[in-house]
Parts: sequence; C-alpha cells; structure tokens
Amino acid sequence: MNFIRNSVFIVKGLQEFTRNGFEKASKNFNAADLENISINGRSYMITGSNSGIGKVVATELAKAGGTVHLVCRNPERGEAALNEIKEESKNNSVFLHVVDLAKPRDVYKFAHDFAEKGEGLDVLVNNAGCMVHQRNLDDLGFETNFATNTLAVHLLTETLLPLIRKSSDPRVITVSSGGMLTQKLNAVDIQSLKGSHDGTSSYAQQKRQQVVLSELYAVRHPGVHFSTMHPGWADTPAVRDAMPSFYEKMKNKLRSPEEGADTVIWLALSPAVRSIESGKFFLDRQPVATHLPLSRTQESDTDRQSFIAALDEMLQKVKQSVA
Ligand SMILES: NC(=O)c1ccc[n+]([C@@H]2O[C@H](COP(=O)([O-])OP(=O)(O)OC[C@H]3O[C@@H](n4cnc5c(N)ncnc54)[C@H](OP(=O)(O)O)[C@@H]3O)[C@@H](O)[C@H]2O)c1
Repeated sequence: MNFIRNSVFIVKGLQEFTRNGFEKASKNFNAADLENISINGRSYMITGSNSGIGKVVATELAKAGGTVHLVCRNPERGEAALNEIKEESKNNSVFLHVVDLAKPRDVYKFAHDFAEKGEGLDVLVNNAGCMVHQRNLDDLGFETNFATNTLAVHLLTETLLPLIRKSSDPRVITVSSGGMLTQKLNAVDIQSLKGSHDGTSSYAQQKRQQVVLSELYAVRHPGVHFSTMHPGWADTPAVRDAMPSFYEKMKNKLRSPEEGADTVIWLALSPAVRSIESGKFFLDRQPVATHLPLSRTQESDTDRQSFIAALDEMLQKVKQSVA
C-alpha cells in the first residue's frame, strides 16, 4: 500500500509540484485577486522569515504596506533579513523577534508577551519548518522536529488567538507540505518516537498533523480563517540541506522561492480567500484534496480528537513549566 501511495505521490508531484506545475496552474490565477489591496494598519507575523518562502512572504507583505513581524531563530540571519526587507520594501514597520521554535518554553513566552503587549495582529503565518535527521529530545521530552513543526504551531496559534480574533479579518496560515499526503495521522505516537528515527517520515507526519490541526481549529475557532498550503517543490536551503539526493535529482525542475510563496501571499492578502470555507488545504490558490485516491490515509474522528487533546495537554505542560 505504501509503495502504491508513494508512487501516486511522485507522479502527482512531478505533474503539479514542479516549476512546470506552477506555470500551468498560474494560467488560471485571477489577477484581480491581488489588485488594489490596502493593508496599511494590518499586522502580519511570519515565522522562519529570514530565508526561502518566509522571507519572500515577509518582503511582499512589507512592500504592500503592512506591519511585519519576523520570527527567526538566528540573530545574525534575522538581522540581515530585517535590513534587506526594510531596504527593499522601503517600509520601516518591520520588526525582528529572535525565537527558537524548537524551544517550547521560549515560544510560549514570546507569544504570551506579544499578546500581552496588545499590539494588533491580523495574520499569523506558521512558515518555519525543519527536517532534522537525528533524534534529539529536550528536557520536557519534546523531539526537535515535532517541537518545531507541530507544537510551536499550536503554542503560537492558541496563545496569539485572543489577539488575532480582535482583527476584522483574522487569518492563520500554516505552510504544510504535499509530503503529508503519504501519511495517515498517527494519534498514538504523535511525536514519532517509536522505532528508529526517520526524519523524512517524521516531517511528513508533522505536515499531516498541521493539516488536521488547521481543520480542527476551523471548528474550534469560528470567525478566524484558517488554511494550510503546499508551496510545491521550491529551491530553498531546507530542500538543499535536508534532502540532498532529492535536490540533486530535481534541481532543474524546482520552483523559485517566489513561486513557492505565491499561495501564502494570496492567502494572506486576497479578499477572495474570505469566501472559501475555513480549514482548507491549498495548492496554487485552490483548495485541494487532503488525501490521495485509494490511499487509506483518512483518520477517524476519535484519532483527531485524541491528537488535539494530546497537544492541548502539551501546551499546559509547557505553560506550567514556565510559570
Ligand atoms: N521548499 C520546498 O520545496 C517546501 C516544500 C514543502 C514544504 N515546505 C515548507 O516551507 C516552509 C519554509 O521552508 P523553506 O523551503 O522556505 O526553507 P528555508 O528557506 O530553509 O526556510 C525555513 C525557515 O524556517 C526556519 N526555522 C527552522 N527551524 C527553526 C526553529 N527552530 N526556530 C525558528 N525558525 C526555524 C529557518 O531558520 P534558519 O535560517 O535559522 O534555519 C528558515 O528561516 C517549511 O515549513 C517547509 O517545511 C517547503
């Protein structure tokens, strides 16, 4: 079954996730979706915005006149991106927050303090992601990939939500991956700790978790627009460093970071998004299926509920460890 699922995924990827896939899909984009948009006074937070897709998104939102909060783990790379984005956008309302999303206490403290300050926040873009090939557990027992890709999304989203929901057009966008199509939600071993560590499948499981989480948020938090998206296969440091053999095979077919970022920008800016049901998964400005045909990856409602209950418990554990 996995063999069939993976084969279907690769064929789909070669047709849709490549640069050619973007060029084909973009012929159906409605240019009016991103015309005459005024975002002065709106505020955006983008994680992992010193590089790749996140940096393109931050730059475009700054160019459009929004207040932009960069959340980056490395002070030097963050500072360099901050200066570049300010320079390119001619927008001084761009701010850097240095936070390592693999450190749940720091993530919670940052989000809590940001929400307490009471500055506005209209849109959160959970973009940062990692695929670490060694298993590392922190002192609270959280594995690095899980802490960054799933737990940080939950900590940031839930802690910032009281602030975000004050917006007249609140949105939370999470950059997932088509790789999640190869995975069924594992509600028992949510950190992928059983057996030996496989960074690639652990990452894909967390990308599935992001999609399920966003669907659950849409029910839990009506009035806020949630979405997840797949950027396609784009040429970024994450792909070069974490997937070197995939990169070598695919380097001539990869999308640019700008093409990968297009749907995030559209989800963040376009009024057209408001008429689409909350909680959907997007590729190239279209809501798309979250399961491959005949893949048997559909999770049960019980699994969905036990997954979010486990995450809520983790959030409480992190909160208590900070207090
Ligand atoms: N490129 C693709 O083909 C592709 C396909 C599917 C999904 N995605 C997703 O797209 C998103 C953006 O990735 P990208 O391709 O643009 O790669 P990228 O250029 O390497 O960007 C990843 C960003 O995440 C940040 N990050 C990683 N771990 C972090 C942590 N612990 N704390 C804070 N920031 C952290 C990185 O910071 P550093 O610079 O400090 O490492 C970097 O800014 C990711 O969620 C990725 O999974 C990408």
